Amino acid sequence: MNTAFIKTCLHTYVNHQTMASLQSSFTLLSSAPKPRSSRLPGRSHSSQISCSGDGGGGIDRRNILLGLGGLYGAGSSLGRQAEAAPILPPDLSTCDPTGATTTRRVGDKQEVVKLDVNCCPPFTDKQGDYKLPVFTKLRRRQSAHRLSPANLAKYKKAMAKMRELDVTDPDDPRGFTQQANIHCAYCNGPYDQVGFPGIDLQVHNSWTFFPFHRWYLYFYERILGELIGDPTFALPYWNWDNPRGMSMPLAFDDPSSPLYDEDRNQDHRRPAVVDLALNSGITDPVQLISNNLALMYKEMVSDVETAVDFLGTEYRAGDDPHAFALGGTSERGSHTGIHAWVGDPRNDLKEDMGNFYSAGRDPMFYSHHANVDRMWTIWDKIPASYSKKIDDDDFKNSSFMFYDEKKNLVRVKVSDCLDHRKLGYEYEYSDTPWINSRPPQRAVPANLKELAKGIPTADKVFPLKLVKTVKFLVPKPAKGKADEALVLENIVTDNSKLIKFDVFINDEDDKPDELDRAEYVGSFTQLPHRVKGKESVNNLRLNLREVYENINIADDDAVVITIVPLISGDAVTIGGIKIIRRRPRK
Ligand code: C2O
Repeated sequence: MNTAFIKTCLHTYVNHQTMASLQSSFTLLSSAPKPRSSRLPGRSHSSQISCSGDGGGGIDRRNILLGLGGLYGAGSSLGRQAEAAPILPPDLSTCDPTGATTTRRVGDKQEVVKLDVNCCPPFTDKQGDYKLPVFTKLRRRQSAHRLSPANLAKYKKAMAKMRELDVTDPDDPRGFTQQANIHCAYCNGPYDQVGFPGIDLQVHNSWTFFPFHRWYLYFYERILGELIGDPTFALPYWNWDNPRGMSMPLAFDDPSSPLYDEDRNQDHRRPAVVDLALNSGITDPVQLISNNLALMYKEMVSDVETAVDFLGTEYRAGDDPHAFALGGTSERGSHTGIHAWVGDPRNDLKEDMGNFYSAGRDPMFYSHHANVDRMWTIWDKIPASYSKKIDDDDFKNSSFMFYDEKKNLVRVKVSDCLDHRKLGYEYEYSDTPWINSRPPQRAVPANLKELAKGIPTADKVFPLKLVKTVKFLVPKPAKGKADEALVLENIVTDNSKLIKFDVFINDEDDKPDELDRAEYVGSFTQLPHRVKGKESVNNLRLNLREVYENINIADDDAVVITIVPLISGDAVTIGGIKIIRRRPRK
C-alpha cells in the first residue's frame, strides 16, 4: 500500500476542511492552522499534487518539494508565516498504541510490522498551559566526566527511584519507561498532527529538534529532582565535543549503577574513543580525535550560513515528517553520530541509542542531549555575520505536551525555552577546542585537468546506487571561489538501515579516513527509524563557501566530487547532484 499517496490525499482533504473541528482543550490556541492552499506562491503545498497520480511510487513528492524549497535556507520562506501555522501539541486522547510501525525484513521482503511497545502516555483531560516558575538560582549542569561524587550519588538515587516507579506504579508518567516513551511518541507515529489525520508528528530533522529536547530534558531533570526532594538537581552533560570527554562517561559504564544500560555497543565501552564520523576503519585515537574536532568545527561554524542551517529546516502544521537530511548541522552531525556510535549492533534496529523509539531507554541519552543542548547555547554565542534568531511565528508558537514533576499535563511553547536561563539551568564551563579546528588551507589548488582525467560527468552517473566509492565531475554556476552549495537530490534511503556516506571535493590524496582535511565537504547519516513506509527521500545541502577557501580552488567552472559509502551504501540511491548559488541571506 502506498502510504505516501494516501497521506498526500488526506492532506489535501484536510486542507479544504474548516479548521473548526480541531481538537484541543486549550483556550490559548491563538493560531489554528489555516488552509495551506492559501499560501503564497513559491512555497509548495500538497494541494498542488494530484491525487490521481502515482503518488510518487513510494516516494512522498511533497517531501521532495519541501526539501527543495528548503534548499535556500532561511531566506525563502521566513516572513511568509502569516499564511501557515505552527506545529500543535498532540491530542493525547488520540494516541495510537499501535501507531508506531516499522519495516522489518521478513524472508527477503520488507514488510510493515506492528511496533512491540505502546509508547502512549497515560491520559488525563486535565491539562493546561505551563507556567514557568521564576528561578532565582540556576541549576548547574556539570560535565559528566567531572561529576562530583555527591552529584553522582544524587543522580543514582534519583534514577533508582525513577526506575522503581516502573514497578510500583507503571502509570505514573514520571517513571523511567514512561519518560523514555515520550521520545518514541514524538518520533515514531503514535501521534497524528492535530487537524491532519494520517500525518505523523515528528519533532526530528527540523527546527523543532532543539526546543523539543530542551523541554523534554527540563521536565526529566525536574522530575528527578522531585523524586529525591532536591530542586537543585541538575543533569550531567556528556561533553563528547572535548577530547577529555570523548569516551563513555565512567558514571554510565558501571553495570551495577541504575545509570547503566546493557544495550550499548560493547566495543565502544571505555576506553574506546568516540567516533562521531562512524568510520570503523580508523583505529588511531589521535586521528579519531582530530576527525571529531574537525566535524565539530564544521557543524558549529563553517557549515552554518543561516540560523536554519544550524537549527533545522522549517516544520509547520501539516508538513510530512522530515527525512534526516533536513535536520540542522548539529542534529545531522555529532548528535546522530553519538546515537549510532552508542547503539547496540547486536540488536536489529541498533536499540537502544541507535533508534529513536528506544533511545530514551538509555540513561546516557539524557546526558548526550544535555550536551546537544549545550551546543545550542554555545553556537548562539559564536560571533557570526547572520542572525541567530528564527523570526517566524510558526517556529516560536510550535508547542508540545509534557507531564511536569507533579504529574500535571502541561503545554509548552518553543518561544518560552529560547533562553535556557529562564528554564533555571546553566552549563558548567568546558573548553571547546574545536573552535580552532578549521582544516589547514591548501597552498596550491588541485589541478582540475589532471584530476578529471577519465572521470565521468555527473549526468552519466546519476541516479546512483551507492555500492562503491564514486568520483564524477560537477559543473559550477560561477567560477572559482563563490558562495555556493552542493545539493544531493532525492537520496532515497531504506528506513530500517543505519546509513552513512561522506563527500569530498577535488581530492587528490584520496584519504577518506581523514576528515580533518580541506577536501572533506560533509556527510549524510541516517539512523534506522520506525515510521510508516519503508523509504525516505532526502535532499542534502552542504555549504561550499569556506570549503572553496580551504581547498584554495582555482578559477575552475567545475569540481570533482567523491562520494564514499561507509555504512549500508547498498540501501541508498542518490537521484542527482548539482551546485547552486546560495541566495544572499537576509
Ligand atoms: Cu530525539 Cu537524539 O534524538
